[in-house]
Amino acid sequence: MNMSEQLKQIYEAEQYIRERISFAPEVALVLGSGLGILDELMEDTTVIPFSEIPHFPVSTVEGHAGDLIIGKIQGKPAIMMKGRFHLYEGYDVKIVTLPIRVMKRLGVKSLLVTNAAGGVNTSFEPGDLMLIEDHINLTSMNPLIGRNENELGVRFPDMSEAYSRRLRQIALEKAKENGFTLKQGVYFGLSGPNYETPAEIRMIRMLGGDAVGMSTVNEVIAARHSGIEVIGISCISNMAAGILDQPLSHQEVMETTEKVKQTFLDFVVSIIPEL
Ligand code: 6GU
Repeated sequence: MNMSEQLKQIYEAEQYIRERISFAPEVALVLGSGLGILDELMEDTTVIPFSEIPHFPVSTVEGHAGDLIIGKIQGKPAIMMKGRFHLYEGYDVKIVTLPIRVMKRLGVKSLLVTNAAGGVNTSFEPGDLMLIEDHINLTSMNPLIGRNENELGVRFPDMSEAYSRRLRQIALEKAKENGFTLKQGVYFGLSGPNYETPAEIRMIRMLGGDAVGMSTVNEVIAARHSGIEVIGISCISNMAAGILDQPLSHQEVMETTEKVKQTFLDFVVSIIPEL
């Protein structure tokens, strides 16, 4: 059998992880900037640094790229990516989405993705949580380009419900129970790493974007290709360029995510049993 390089990479990474865990994860969590704080709530954990896993990139400029954590959360067998790979780091889109493919092979049925995003919708405020209703992929990349591997999914996958209606309904109910208003909107994905110009943000608003960010869309495309059910939550860490009369900084992104951490955490944990 003439197996493609891509499939070989997926299977080798899968095998390495499988040999180190004792149960199959059902739920995958991919956590964004400053939001990778759920591992404290996991039990029976196995921590595998990305750098040990075959074909996962070795490191970023910041040194430690992240960990894969397998454990139980609210009794659910889960696998969590603490940290993720971004296009702006120079990784190929096949590498950015490799962990999704591997997690699918390990048994994952649903994926909860989170990110920090800039608010484009003027009714949003920094600190809001936005349920992702849909996305627009303008990263100029797509993980499905190239020969289609039928083992992974179909050539032309349907994206009419990229973010599960069922899971969105559950998220809205849980937010109500948790006593906060969950915003909803369209996540507009770009490659970064610069933040947008005010003209770009006006364009994004006209095109239907409510929040803008540098992750998530390719991972979700790969997840849907492989039949994983997806729920996405953005933390609006700041307003996008030109909306307020102030420059953007990564510092602000980190400070806001730090502030909403607890609300975010409680919310995410309350959704997990329903996944
Ligand atoms: Cl304003 N833009 C992008 N692309 N990503 C962000 C952001 C803005 N704020 C947080 N992440």
